[in-house]
Amino acid sequence: MSKKVFDQMDDTKNKEVDDSNKEVDDSDKEVDDSNKEVDDSDKEVDDSNKEVDDSNKEVDDSNKEVDDSNKDVDDSNREVETEGMDNKTRTDILAEMTSKLSSLKYTDRNDIVQTYNKWAETGYEQVFSSDVFNAPKRTAEVLEELYPFEIDKKGAKILDVGAGTGLCGIELRKLGFKNIDGLEPSKNMIAEAMEKDVYDRYIIEMISDVKLGIQDNFYDVVTACSCARHFPDGFPEIARIVRPGGHIVILSNLDDQEDKEMETMIQKLEDQGLWKVVRMEIVEEFFSVTNQRGILILLEVLTDGNGNYPEKEILTNRTKVLRKYSVCT
Ligand SMILES: C[S@@+](CC[C@H](N)C(=O)[O-])C[C@H]1O[C@@H](n2cnc3c(N)ncnc32)[C@H](O)[C@@H]1O
Repeated sequence: MSKKVFDQMDDTKNKEVDDSNKEVDDSDKEVDDSNKEVDDSDKEVDDSNKEVDDSNKEVDDSNKEVDDSNKDVDDSNREVETEGMDNKTRTDILAEMTSKLSSLKYTDRNDIVQTYNKWAETGYEQVFSSDVFNAPKRTAEVLEELYPFEIDKKGAKILDVGAGTGLCGIELRKLGFKNIDGLEPSKNMIAEAMEKDVYDRYIIEMISDVKLGIQDNFYDVVTACSCARHFPDGFPEIARIVRPGGHIVILSNLDDQEDKEMETMIQKLEDQGLWKVVRMEIVEEFFSVTNQRGILILLEVLTDGNGNYPEKEILTNRTKVLRKYSVCT
């Protein structure tokens, strides 16, 4: 920018030289004076060029400072990369933990939680960094499709089950969702979410066939990102706490054996009329390091917590609540 200004100054001074040369042609008598003017003006040009040089030097110096400070940023990024995890280490840790988890049945709940407690301490978040683990972002995007308007995003009550360290909650916040609770049985995993202040409420519980201390139809949406394989027996309980007309978004590893068990359960509950499958699709690059694909399942809950279908009444109340909310804000 300043170079442009100085170039313009140059042009102005050079124009002065031209004008003064014209005066030399007009009158011999004025030659001496005019030459003097030319000399003076040349001197001015020289002085001004010197100023330009000096100021260019200043610009160069300041560019050097910018370069040096960018170098600092580059160096600090390099440090982050070095502290981060290379893909081989990621793959090794993932293979070890997956093999441990696969040896457990979903009913081995305490062992599963202990495994995650340990994993939280040995770099869960480094393995599943947002540049390679796309499942939380994809899960959040589905909610955005369901709630495209800001007002609905503010009002929607979301429970992120198997919340882990809060990756899905973070993606939901990025998209503007405001009302998000996290349910997670592993204290070490949820401690990281608490540190980042991701959720409004932290529910240290596990999903199973045991009734939770959450009232019927309380949530508009439940998300289960990369965790539903741990609680297929708890699906009716999830349906109980989601209002009729509300949704459950499940995104799981496509190749997991226990996810097949999960799919069987989803089908069974659809046959019973508890919910309906709205969408089921393959998600490429669920976890890009191992080219792992995922399966996304969007369910709409049809009954209330008691297996009834009071859809119309509850939906009407819900709309009233949302309207009231919109007036207050
Ligand atoms: C692979 S992590 C996924 C965490 C998080 N959703 C994410 O995307 O990073 C699976 C999580 O499910 C939790 N989990 C295991 N059994 C559970 C259960 N019965 N109910 C709820 N969460 C459970 C684990 O403790 C763990 O944090």
